[in-house]
Amino acid sequence: MTAMVKAEGVHKSYGAAHILKGIDLEVAPREVFCLIGPSGSGKSTFLRCINHLEKINAGRLWVDGELVGYRQKGDKLYELKDSEVALQRRDIGMVFQRFNLFPHMTAVENVMEAPIQVKGEAKAVARERALKLLDRVGLGDKAGNYPSQLSGGQQQRVAIARALAMEPKLMLFDEPTSALDPELVGDVLDVMRGLAEDGMTMVVVTHEMGFAREVGDNLVFMDGGVVVESGNPRDVLTNPQHDRTKAFLSKVL
Ligand SMILES: Nc1ncnc2c1ncn2[C@@H]1O[C@H](COP(=O)(O)OP(=O)(O)O)[C@@H](O)[C@H]1O
Ligand SMILES: [Mg+2]
Repeated sequence: MTAMVKAEGVHKSYGAAHILKGIDLEVAPREVFCLIGPSGSGKSTFLRCINHLEKINAGRLWVDGELVGYRQKGDKLYELKDSEVALQRRDIGMVFQRFNLFPHMTAVENVMEAPIQVKGEAKAVARERALKLLDRVGLGDKAGNYPSQLSGGQQQRVAIARALAMEPKLMLFDEPTSALDPELVGDVLDVMRGLAEDGMTMVVVTHEMGFAREVGDNLVFMDGGVVVESGNPRDVLTNPQHDRTKAFLSKVL
């Protein structure tokens, strides 16, 4: 079976700062893959490498069997053109800590926008899907609201619907609930849980250990740009093997 994400010896530097120091991991299709670790350990950087928002300096990254950002001919790698990278990226949904909705568009318009602009989809078709997606994230009655008329949790659910509108094969979540008031976190996690049940492949950077334990199939603890420990979330969280993992968990659990 082809992995949905495969990283082999991935390195990333910003100037002299060596951030990712050889990441190896594999995410199977339909898997919920959770990534935890202290601030600055490279979690966001790694997510951004998966959809080629960042270029890696060494190693290889594949999504669904395709090299990200490169084409291989023989043993040579050729960088893809921006238009080709954009084609790869549109199959990958990304949800950020800050929702970044278009403020001048209603919820349904936000969700319709990418399929119309990127795929040239007919407005009526895009609207119908957008309404269904808003329904799915529990916001069927908020389609006409502007972001300023929605709570943070509602905005984040619109952002999830917006990513789903491109019918991605992979969803990346970068701390999707960490900017939310505590009472709004549950609704967003419920939507993510529903996505997982429907078989979406998800890579989730999170501090929600309950979510990781209940929904995650795999958990990776990253520190200092390396994978320190990985395995079944219940095992890693209740019986960490490494001192660095223990120290981190003792602060967040
Ligand atoms: N565009 C950038 N330029 C320079 N340094 C960066 C950039 N993005 C991230 N970094 C640095 O890379 C390190 C890892 O950051 P990040 O991947 O955001 O960590 P995490 O998401 O685990 O908190 C941090 O030290 C951060 O300052
Ligand atoms: Mg981050």
